Amino acid sequence: MPTMNLSRYLAIHAEPSLASLLESVARACTGISMALGQGALAAGVLGSAGSENIQGETQKNLDVLSNQMLMDAVTASSTVAGMASEEMEHIYALPATVPQAPYLLVFDPLDGSSNIDVNVSVGTIFSVLRAPTHAAELSAGDFLQTGRSQVAAGYALYGPSTQLVLTLGQGVQMFTLDRQRGEYLLTQESVKIPEVTAEFAINMSNQRFWEAPVQLYIQELLNGKEGVRAKNFNMRWIASMVADVHRILTRGGVFLYPVDSKIRQQGGKLRLLYEANPMSWLIEQAGGAASTGRESILDIMPGSLHQRIPVVLGAKEEVSRVIDLHRA
Ligand code: AHG
Ligand code: MN
Ligand code: MN
Repeated sequence: MPTMNLSRYLAIHAEPSLASLLESVARACTGISMALGQGALAAGVLGSAGSENIQGETQKNLDVLSNQMLMDAVTASSTVAGMASEEMEHIYALPATVPQAPYLLVFDPLDGSSNIDVNVSVGTIFSVLRAPTHAAELSAGDFLQTGRSQVAAGYALYGPSTQLVLTLGQGVQMFTLDRQRGEYLLTQESVKIPEVTAEFAINMSNQRFWEAPVQLYIQELLNGKEGVRAKNFNMRWIASMVADVHRILTRGGVFLYPVDSKIRQQGGKLRLLYEANPMSWLIEQAGGAASTGRESILDIMPGSLHQRIPVVLGAKEEVSRVIDLHRA
């Protein structure tokens, strides 16, 4: 039985308000995990909420519920000056405190929500940034920081077990929720992604809409042993980024959600601040790479809160190959 729990880990590796912020996120994730576990037994967990979010997507009941659980738990921790979420058009600024709360939290409360009603893994993604030191009222502009400015990032995966995967910039650690004790135990330290892989993840149904470099790359993989890559590749697509990234952190692989002609206007599918940035930092911290195909995701200065971008992340060798094909 592992002896290091999340609280102890944070007491050693994070300053007290960061530890308290992350513990409040973990508490909310335990609540979300319990609601998900109830499934069809609880009223108002499954199904649609009958509303749309700012991205024009139908909100599921659990999108709304998990957003609220995170907001409530983190507000109570008094460690953030504000929060932003996939499910909220505008930032939420907390009443000013003296001394000012040191952090900002951005999150995707429920990632892969199309999977809830079919009882397939979903997750929560979060990223911690520093709050501004100016005295002016908090604005959306204060959240527009590159992924390199993240102080902490991680996700909770609600699968057969619930896991919390975290980086504070000192490698990637995986914790597993002990449901009896209600605490997260450290179950894997310093996670490393193998540089080489034979597994890729992409939504193949978009193939005809992709740009030429992605078409070429995937064709190379599909050509297998007989092609330039001279090996056969396997494919997986869970349609929950958290679950796909977790597989890559666990056994390797490469994940792509490229921009395509259907979504060119919006710049991509995945959101920079609360999907691409935290996942890219985790991947880099585990020895992998993350790029749009043209630039490093973590170096992008966001232009808006809900900005979307193309995402290629995972095994270094594969990400480099995609970048080379974009240069050619
Ligand atoms: P969300 O449920 O937070 O809107 O995110 C869903 C994302 C991501 O988790 C997943 O990789 C991708 O959308 C799946 O998209 P497709 O349905 O186009 O495959
Ligand atoms: Mn998502
Ligand atoms: Mn979501």
